[in-house]
Amino acid sequence: MLDVEAVRARFPALMATDGDGRRVVHADAPGGTQVPEAVITAMADYLRTSNANQHGPFERSRRTDALCDRVREQAASFLGADADGVVFGPNMTSLTFHFSRAATVRVGEGDELVCTRLDHDANVSPWLALAGRTGAVVRWVPLAPDGTLVTAALDEVVTPRTRLVAFPRASNAFGTLVDPAPFVAAARAVGALTFMDAVHAAPHVALEQARDGVDVLVCSPYKFFGPHAGVLSADPALLASLRPDKARAAPDAGPERWQTGTASFEAIAGVGAACGYLAEVGMAAVREHEISLSRRFLDGVERLPHVRLHGPGDPHRRTPTFAVTLDSRDPAAAAGQLAARGVQVWSGHYYAVEPMRALGLLQGGGAVRIGFAHYHGPADVDRVLEALGELRPAGRGV
Ligand SMILES: Cc1ncc(COP(=O)(O)O)c(C=O)c1O
Repeated sequence: MLDVEAVRARFPALMATDGDGRRVVHADAPGGTQVPEAVITAMADYLRTSNANQHGPFERSRRTDALCDRVREQAASFLGADADGVVFGPNMTSLTFHFSRAATVRVGEGDELVCTRLDHDANVSPWLALAGRTGAVVRWVPLAPDGTLVTAALDEVVTPRTRLVAFPRASNAFGTLVDPAPFVAAARAVGALTFMDAVHAAPHVALEQARDGVDVLVCSPYKFFGPHAGVLSADPALLASLRPDKARAAPDAGPERWQTGTASFEAIAGVGAACGYLAEVGMAAVREHEISLSRRFLDGVERLPHVRLHGPGDPHRRTPTFAVTLDSRDPAAAAGQLAARGVQVWSGHYYAVEPMRALGLLQGGGAVRIGFAHYHGPADVDRVLEALGELRPAGRGV
């Protein structure tokens, strides 16, 4: 079992209190997680001791080279992937556009790209742009009303013309977990690439890219207790077979060929510390704890008739990220009222435009999103439930 108080003590930002000295519940993990002291220290230490560009003939540069090699290994172990295919970038969105531009040569007029109605827009817009450039057609995997993907539709949506299948490992809107297997099987059957957005999944479930057979995986360390950065991981042979946009003078081989310009080495130091932190805590312990948080929240919400949950009701099929709407309350106004009660959550569509539209929530201003991480405990869940309870419309009983 996870010792939540010991975990929390490692995160300085979680010690914040409101005006009354009450602990603030920052439940916006899907928007970005807080960082443990180890990440802050690694970043500051890098700047103090090693701040230099790569491949130089002096010690600070050599330390930067060693850091990048080491963190590539750590990231690969975190993702269940090959270190030679780990590319560092500014964020997931930039890396996905970058890869999609390089993939242009693989797509022709009348070819097909598959997207899902559950994806964040960063795993949709690059493929719409690629289709626009090439005359390819985008086909969609639909969403069921409970916020799960209708994977049975893959039989029809994936065809011999499919060149790429993009899908999420988990939804940043509804918390839905997605099994990569049917996507990988459908894509492989027609020789298409798979591109998996693991941004929302990374802080919640163990990732196994190689075992799952996913060609390209993207994630964002700032969602898994690291700094603002992005990581793309792919089969090194696939990366070598494509020609990314790059300066002529930049490296011509290996993952650095995919990194445009100078990387944020201090961020890379932080990525390594975040991977190290999670390896120490263990994803199995994280998952077990989060399932219990989800169960507590789901049970509590059932007792609040003015709160409607959008997304799976089974804690085993989801992350502890919950989209809810409240009777007669605009989501943005509700988020503001929760903030006034020391509960910090997001509202709107959070770039999950397709999912929100598919569930009919887009027009009404989206939904309130409550996102827990392993550093939350039962008391945090209860605080959120209590605050939601206080937003019951006037005249409505318990
Ligand atoms: C599921 C998901 N995919 C992609 C992104 C985009 O990530 P980044 O901010 O690193 O570009 C986000 C960010 O919120 C996300 O939640």
